[in-house]
Amino acid sequence: MATGFLVTLSIVAFTSSLAYAYDPSPLQDFCVAVNDPKHAVFMNGRVCKDPKLATADDFFTSGLDAIGTAAFPELSMSVNVADVNRIPGMNTLGLTVVRTELGPGGLIPPHTHPRSCEFILVVRGTVYSGFVAVDPRNLGKTRLFEKTLKAGDVFVIPQGLIHFTHNVGAGNATLFTAFNSQNAGFITLANELFGSDPAVSEDVLSKAFRIDKESVQHIQAKFSSVG
Ligand SMILES: *[C@@H]1O[C@H](CO)[C@@H](O)[C@H](O)[C@H]1NC(C)=O
Repeated sequence: MATGFLVTLSIVAFTSSLAYAYDPSPLQDFCVAVNDPKHAVFMNGRVCKDPKLATADDFFTSGLDAIGTAAFPELSMSVNVADVNRIPGMNTLGLTVVRTELGPGGLIPPHTHPRSCEFILVVRGTVYSGFVAVDPRNLGKTRLFEKTLKAGDVFVIPQGLIHFTHNVGAGNATLFTAFNSQNAGFITLANELFGSDPAVSEDVLSKAFRIDKESVQHIQAKFSSVG
């Protein structure tokens, strides 16, 4: 009995912490964010503007047709982000959209969004995109789901799974990605593991990746300027 109760309790604890990981449903039509630290009441980390003072401009932006700023210059990748920081009316709506521009050979390196699924629409060029998922019947083994995408093609990445997108065409590639979170999170595996400060121990990395410590140092050196 006691064991059954503990198991139930841990299942409840586990599932309720998962529930908290989702963006909350808005309890009102909108909550236009105000960047005013003097206010005391926060919603999703933001202060809401008085709804009577909200205007169409709170829900508007322009310039998403531009390339944006270099995110990983060495990987030929630029992003133009439309989120709550740019469109205050997106606060609490559980939505982010990013325009990404990849140069020839450009790469969005393997990463995850812990709080969001991703919808990828290619509008120009040709990319190779994929995600990996654990095989539930064979823990420790993963399956790769991959697609070569051209203009008009859509690929969907399930929440939290490791994925990547590589420009395999001759010219630039342009993608629009939509996230069902106001703050999807962006964890790039190579940077997080090999570029952290302080560094993850060589022992841990060499065992995890089944490589010698010299190889760990070699990779770490390439990420040491990050941060
Ligand atoms: C191609 O993509 C790269 C990387 O985002 C960008 O720096 C460059 O300006 C783009 N070139 C064109 C012609 O769009």
